[in-house]
Amino acid sequence: MGFSNQLLNGKTIMVTGAGKGIGRACALLAAQCGAYVIAVARTESDLLQLQKDSTELSGTIETWSEDVTKASFHQRLKGLSELHGLINNVGTNRVAKMTEQADDDVDAVLDLNIKSLYRCAKAALIPMQKSGGSIVNMSSQMGFVGSPGRTLYCASKHGVEGLSKAMAVELAADNIRVNTVAPTFVLTPMTEPMFENPQFKKFVFDMIPMQKLASTEDVANACVFLLSDLSAMVTGTCIKVDGGWTAR
Ligand SMILES: NC(=O)c1ccc[n+]([C@@H]2O[C@H](COP(=O)([O-])OP(=O)(O)OC[C@H]3O[C@@H](n4cnc5c(N)ncnc54)[C@H](OP(=O)(O)O)[C@@H]3O)[C@@H](O)[C@H]2O)c1
Repeated sequence: MGFSNQLLNGKTIMVTGAGKGIGRACALLAAQCGAYVIAVARTESDLLQLQKDSTELSGTIETWSEDVTKASFHQRLKGLSELHGLINNVGTNRVAKMTEQADDDVDAVLDLNIKSLYRCAKAALIPMQKSGGSIVNMSSQMGFVGSPGRTLYCASKHGVEGLSKAMAVELAADNIRVNTVAPTFVLTPMTEPMFENPQFKKFVFDMIPMQKLASTEDVANACVFLLSDLSAMVTGTCIKVDGGWTAR
């Protein structure tokens, strides 16, 4: 076994938030490596486009137009006959100084980034029980450091790091591995508006020793490695795709 377009042959992999950005790149790469991918997002037009763009790939993409916060989605996920991998990718950010942060934002960010991620992982354990699996929780470099205007987001991603380590310890006996991927800034619909501010752009490039943003493919590569048997002995850890931001 090695790096090849058959790396994920025979595996069923769910990617949440697969309509845009990082999740879309993960779904396409997993299908390129032979997986049967279940791509989840709410916007049907994004999912249709994803399916169109995957027709030449060796794997298959099935789409689920679902909201990952809903109990009905968790029930549907529990009903799968088998699942070998989950990229728990949905997440959000509400950038503001603590003194200006709306109280609703505290719930919105923690509910989606922690509670919903936890519930999706919990539901995935049922179809993973049969043959074990690999869960990749999408973190961020902000799961390791602080940054102005991002205290709430940092709290949520530090939570994802802690949760993932604890899950790895608890689930190892069930042959379920749990890791995170922690990207630096990636241009996606979530971050594009941020980079319209030249001061912010300069701040980001000054903070990244490699002086470039990560691409969605950079992040997908790390995720696919963690889903595959190439990482069979890797659990409870993080792959930082951050160009050195957190190494300073
Ligand atoms: N972009 C970055 O710079 C960066 C850096 C570090 C970490 N991250 C993390 O990477 C993850 C993905 O970020 P991104 O920038 O790719 O995000 P994005 O561009 O905003 O895309 C998010 C995807 O998730 C879907 N989604 C959102 N809420 C959903 C829900 N409740 N149920 C189902 N699908 C939902 C969206 O589609 P619908 O709205 O149609 O459902 C969309 O397809 C997040 O966890 C983020 O914190 C991003």
